[in-house]
Amino acid sequence: MSENIKSQNITWSKSEITNNDRIKLKGHKGLIIWFTGLPSSGKSTIAKALEIQLHKKGKHAYILDGDNIRHGLNSDLGFCAKDREENIRRVGEVAKLFADAGIIVITSFISPYEKDRKKVREKAKDKFIEVYLKCPLEVCKKRDPKGLYKKVEAGEIENFTGISAPYEEPKDPEIILETDKYPIERCINKIIEKINL
Ligand code: ADX
Repeated sequence: MSENIKSQNITWSKSEITNNDRIKLKGHKGLIIWFTGLPSSGKSTIAKALEIQLHKKGKHAYILDGDNIRHGLNSDLGFCAKDREENIRRVGEVAKLFADAGIIVITSFISPYEKDRKKVREKAKDKFIEVYLKCPLEVCKKRDPKGLYKKVEAGEIENFTGISAPYEEPKDPEIILETDKYPIERCINKIIEKINL
């Protein structure tokens, strides 16, 4: 869909407020902390814990969550490769706006395709931090908090990531969190140390 550009005769309107003005106002820069990983790898759980921790430290953080965004903005998209691509493209654009506004946006999407994540990275430039929640499929299956792996086994869900749809591991993420090995606290500390705000 991104190649299908129809907008014409449009001119970019540049804000008079600079990035530095916003940093001065908030006391920190805007960022995209981009979580990626299999279903049940711990994305939502760690995103929530990180948001709380950043909030406590006086940082303006906000989560964009896959399931939530699919209730509204992206409710017209399913789970074929093309729809997932469009899902990530839109979320990448929205996340960039949040980061430009000076907010630390934590995105929690499977985002299974390397090329889609790469496009967001290229747009967001130095504001993009990729966090790979690495967790063996067997552990994700056991966790199954939403009962989706069970539904897949019962033949009720098609194109399920990790089972009948691909998950491409990030090649060079800024952070890898092995969520089956380390507690939540240690995972969020690793992110907080890295972003060094
Ligand atoms: S993504 O692949 O396009 O990045 P996204 O993170 O938005 O996916 O949505 C994933 C969520 O949708 C999962 O957490 C799960 O609750 C739900 N879901 C429903 N069907 C599927 C499916 N076929 N594959 C993966 N997740 C699914």
